[in-house]
Amino acid sequence: VKETRHDDVQQAAWDQSYARLENHLFWPTEEIVRFLSRHVRRRVAADEYVDVLDALARSRRLLDLGCGLGRHVALAHEIGLSGYGIDVSETAIAKGREWLGTIAPELPDRLVAGDVRELPWPDRFFSVVVSHGVLDSMPFDIARAAVEECHRTLVEGGVMYADVIAFDGRTTEPGEILVDTGFEAGTVQSYFDERRLDSLVADRFSIIRRVLVTHADRDAGTRSGRWHVELRADDV
Ligand SMILES: C[S@@+](CC[C@H](N)C(=O)[O-])C[C@H]1O[C@@H](n2cnc3c(N)ncnc32)[C@H](O)[C@@H]1O
Repeated sequence: VKETRHDDVQQAAWDQSYARLENHLFWPTEEIVRFLSRHVRRRVAADEYVDVLDALARSRRLLDLGCGLGRHVALAHEIGLSGYGIDVSETAIAKGREWLGTIAPELPDRLVAGDVRELPWPDRFFSVVVSHGVLDSMPFDIARAAVEECHRTLVEGGVMYADVIAFDGRTTEPGEILVDTGFEAGTVQSYFDERRLDSLVADRFSIIRRVLVTHADRDAGTRSGRWHVELRADDV
């Protein structure tokens, strides 16, 4: 009897989600645009940029961790950095490769199907990591292993952006649930409060900035929130 592993279940759930055309996102998130402008490379004219991050002297590569279709790989390319991406969904990677090939011929090969716990790149390969809605889409121990891999593959002084869903009272305490129906059915959602967020990055990254953005839908009477964190790789 073949044992069904958690990883297989999660990969299948994400493939099915992409097959339902969920997370078909082509434009970058505003928070990542702002992060790059503030800490990495600032656009000052139509085709003119100023390097902000000293570590760009050591690497001009950016990793989009859990990249989906690779929208932030496309953004990296647009601002003159070499973007790379990894995602567990082969469906997302295949579609992303097809799309990125229409932007530049070197981009498709830089998207890899794989797990965030085992990044197939050498130590100190990147100077920037961005990750939208990923570290909260998996159990905490997997997210922590991913953070350690990000640290390993970043140059000294490299920076990282991540956002995660905030604890919202739906679960009895910050922690994980399995989404049972609807959008992203079958995937894990992991809710964070400050303490859980701190322990996710502890001993590997210093927090430069941590912002909680909340949305209140007055008509539906619902609230939701996300933590947006900007991190600098510690020298450990
Ligand atoms: C909410 S989607 C966000 C996609 C993308 N970051 C974006 O903003 O368009 C979460 C992504 O995390 C990926 N993911 C979940 N667990 C993963 C793992 N263990 N390794 C790699 N990717 C994973 C999923 O396949 C999915 O594409």
